[in-house]
Amino acid sequence: MLVIGATGNVGREVIKTALNQGLKPVAAVRNITKAKKDFGEDLSMVKFDFYDRNTWFKALEAQKFLFLLRPPAISEVEETLNPFIDVAKQAGIEHIIFLSVAGAEKNKFIPHRKVEDHLISLDAHYTILRPGFFAQNLQDAYRLDIIESDRIMVPAGHTPVNWIDVRDVAEVATLILRNPFAHAGKAYTLAGPGPVLWEEVVESLSDVLGRDIQYQAVSIPRYIFHLKKRGLSRGAIIVQTIIHVLLRLGQGAIEDNTLERLLGHPSRTIETYIRENAEIWQI
Ligand SMILES: NC(=O)c1ccc[n+]([C@@H]2O[C@H](COP(=O)([O-])OP(=O)(O)OC[C@H]3O[C@@H](n4cnc5c(N)ncnc54)[C@H](OP(=O)(O)O)[C@@H]3O)[C@@H](O)[C@H]2O)c1
Repeated sequence: MLVIGATGNVGREVIKTALNQGLKPVAAVRNITKAKKDFGEDLSMVKFDFYDRNTWFKALEAQKFLFLLRPPAISEVEETLNPFIDVAKQAGIEHIIFLSVAGAEKNKFIPHRKVEDHLISLDAHYTILRPGFFAQNLQDAYRLDIIESDRIMVPAGHTPVNWIDVRDVAEVATLILRNPFAHAGKAYTLAGPGPVLWEEVVESLSDVLGRDIQYQAVSIPRYIFHLKKRGLSRGAIIVQTIIHVLLRLGQGAIEDNTLERLLGHPSRTIETYIRENAEIWQI
């Protein structure tokens, strides 16, 4: 199986889970030297870049399955992911697992939806995963605020969010890989155990870290000012702001037990994720 985004949150866990289950994933990476330092010499790797078509066919060679995701910085999927899917089909890929996002079926403007539609129109053998809000955002977007100022400050109000651990997403991906035909043509919304208040998240962080972590539901202008000070690009500021406004409107408060049903065990809680990863937010 070729894994796109292998150095990121989800791809990394897909690789790890697949290896643990005795499968032989191949990591598609932009920089092999850097990835080798990260993963070691044993993992199979191939150079791949959505913006370099010369890498596409070679990366797909001898592969039957593809784990595909849209890197957050890529919005023009018509020139990247969609033609890559066409090439994957020509190269003989039998099944594509595409990481989309919860709610994509109701929003025809987001890039994930354009990829979903393309997969469906081609009748390529596919399974679409639509996960909710990642627990791992706490180690990405919120990490510096937690470490430097003991707080999470976002314009998400006080609406609860159902956090999903990407390790569970990876487990679903490898489960599909074991029997792709049973999941062909299906789309699964994947969620954690249930919506959790931001105040509960910071309470778990405070307990585990032994410091008082605060939640600040800030205004949009204050948040934008904060992200500007952090040096984020205009595009990233817009995306982050939209994400949190949608969370405030309840988009992250989904309830869905598909993940539990597929895996046959409860999904990981945000509290478990925090407890198992405390070193990430240690000063
Ligand atoms: N965050 C959430 O809560 C959430 C929830 C649901 C769905 N999602 C979706 O999940 C996806 C992001 O997954 P993630 O968190 O695993 O992403 P991530 O951690 O940001 O990783 C992105 C990966 O894409 C690779 N990449 C970047 N540009 C590339 C290019 N031009 N060609 C090939 N590879 C490239 C990166 O490689 P390098 O190491 O070379 O940069 C990295 O491996 C997005 O589509 C997002 O919308 C996110």
